[in-house]
Amino acid sequence: MDIKRTRIVDLLKRTDYGQEVVVKGWVRTKRGSKSVNFIALNDGSTIKNVQIVADLEKFSDELMKQITTGACLSVKGTMVESIGSGQAVEVQAKEIEVLGLCGDDYPMQKKGQTFEYMRQHAHMRLRTNTFGAVMRIRHNMAMAIHTYFHEHGFFYFHTPLITASDCEGAGNMFQVTTKNLYDLKKDDQGKIIYDDDFFGQQTSLTVSGQLEGELGATALGAIYTFGPTFRAENSNTPRHLAEFWMIEPEIAFLDQEELMDLEEDFIKYCVKWALDHCQDDLEFLNNMIDKTLLERLNGVLKESFVRLTYTEGINILQEAIKNGKKFEFPCNWGDDLASEHERFLVEEHFRKPVIMTDYPTAIKSFYMKQNEATPDGGSIGYHGVKAPASTMQGTDVLFPQIGEIIGGSVREADYDKLMGEIGRRQMDMTHLWWYLDTRRWGSCPHAGFGLGFERLILFVTGMQNIRDVIPFPRTPRSAEF
Ligand code: 4AD
Ligand code: MG
Repeated sequence: MDIKRTRIVDLLKRTDYGQEVVVKGWVRTKRGSKSVNFIALNDGSTIKNVQIVADLEKFSDELMKQITTGACLSVKGTMVESIGSGQAVEVQAKEIEVLGLCGDDYPMQKKGQTFEYMRQHAHMRLRTNTFGAVMRIRHNMAMAIHTYFHEHGFFYFHTPLITASDCEGAGNMFQVTTKNLYDLKKDDQGKIIYDDDFFGQQTSLTVSGQLEGELGATALGAIYTFGPTFRAENSNTPRHLAEFWMIEPEIAFLDQEELMDLEEDFIKYCVKWALDHCQDDLEFLNNMIDKTLLERLNGVLKESFVRLTYTEGINILQEAIKNGKKFEFPCNWGDDLASEHERFLVEEHFRKPVIMTDYPTAIKSFYMKQNEATPDGGSIGYHGVKAPASTMQGTDVLFPQIGEIIGGSVREADYDKLMGEIGRRQMDMTHLWWYLDTRRWGSCPHAGFGLGFERLILFVTGMQNIRDVIPFPRTPRSAEF
């Protein structure tokens, strides 16, 4: 009877030496002498390779020539204790079958290729040590997230990817249509008529599931979404993708302080999960990619995140400028913070993660809870901090190396205040009538946030470019594979 395949991750834990085993995987390297060859085999189940010892007396020259880097093998042999392979176990080969030959044009043959080169061969880069490690960590982070929310009583809630509404109001949506783009029906003013399009109206890929998430939270109490999100922003940065995965918890009866507590607890749980479940891969990345990775991950667990208002943050940045700090972009009260500002606060000033809250109304979305206004046109926010103009309870988490990792807020639950803001922004609410009903029928205080999954993976892996933490990145002018 045939022996069942043993995954390498399981094999390397075994100590029942002498057993016959079958391993299958791809050749990483082959080296050896005239009498014996050592083949490092990897099957993706772990960063570690198993060493296959092939006695050349037993195998033909022809077969041994076929065993090149990248080739796929099935090996039957005896599991023996190893002295020189770096692992406790190796396999003394009895039978070797080449399942798939690998030509010498295999793009992942050479070690030390640049990440840019690997992106051009993203279909094969998954077979490298680095991408194997990143993808296993990515999987583990997804498990951490589902486990966290499940254990805390949140329901996994599925929001649509195709939508007729624009949650963030930033207008950077990808259109969804079945119409012939070269022959669009238009009215007298030249506006496209959608009545004969698939959905009978203009539709796009969602930029966020939040608005539907609020419907879930105000019925089920606490929900989270975890799905793909699309943004047609022309941002060619190491932090932006056109298609990324977002986790959006939304919770009824949660206030600003509790929102911050949740953001902090959740991120720490994910980081701890990585340290507990991805030790081998993290050690590899710590050695090969970023020597301070493990220190940084452990650091996040130890520290309490700083909590401060945008106004206090601006004051710190202004003070730094006075003391000679130079930034590329301005940061006066009212400006959107650039990544350089966020990173200054986190990496240089506080040297720990920062939860920033109470942003100027003008730079945040319409749905956020408005802070109490003062007669002079200012507002009062978190811990009684006064701001010179109107502010909202937008509550973001800023992280070392990353900048904004979470964007969240307490939501405006008051119908009249929400409508006032919609009016000031002159927003067209035709397709959001259902959202407003949450504030008309049993409105409740609630809050939530969005975590960019790839930004979390960037932090946890120490990788530098967001294109290298998702299998097949979508960015401007790039949709290959
Ligand atoms: O700050 P954002 O735009 O917030 C929202 O979409 C809210 N509706 C979330 C909510 O409150 N439910 O996006 C949330 C997070 C950001 O903090 C960032 O981590 C990530 O999503 N993100 C991106 N990640 C990769 N590529 C992009 N283009 C991203 N845009 C946002
Ligand atoms: Mg944001």
